[in-house]
Amino acid sequence: MLRAVYPGSFDPVTYGHMDIILRSCKIVDELIVGVLCNKAKIPLFSVEERVKMLEEVTKDLNNVRIVPFEGLLVDFASNMDASLVIRGLRAITDFEYELQMSQTNHKLEPNVETMFLTTSIEYSYLSSTTVKEIAAFGGDISQFVPDVVAVELRKKMSTKGECRK
Ligand code: PNS
Repeated sequence: MLRAVYPGSFDPVTYGHMDIILRSCKIVDELIVGVLCNKAKIPLFSVEERVKMLEEVTKDLNNVRIVPFEGLLVDFASNMDASLVIRGLRAITDFEYELQMSQTNHKLEPNVETMFLTTSIEYSYLSSTTVKEIAAFGGDISQFVPDVVAVELRKKMSTKGECRK
């Protein structure tokens, strides 16, 4: 039984994340999408909102579970009885950070391996940060995120104040 964790902030989930989820869940028996609750960062969406959106967009995938986590990724993977961490690599700019993270995680917990999937080319430019910026300026985000996320993003942006001159 191969169980993997796909960790991230998912603030919010994009089609780039969906690409990795859809491809990973065909490789492993069970995929746990770990949603980081990071007290040091203020996300746009609460962890509950991010989990809810991920649950909605993965509801047809039988071997995918969405689980929030705090603390070290390797502890979360061990607690979930997962021997694999999956991360997406978009471009060379991701590589340095991802290499450092995977090597550190392997030092902390040698029983947990990291596997990288290169993001499909049509999503290689995509990030939650750019999607939020486009949404903040009223741009069309429908090609970047699932419909349910686009709706929640528009709601969130409409409740945020305009900047003062
Ligand atoms: O979507 P992100 O923000 O790129 O995901 C980053 C994430 C959640 C994978 C990373 O920040 C993480 O694993 N955080 C948990 C804390 C941890 O284990 N830190 C040590 C890794 S070197």
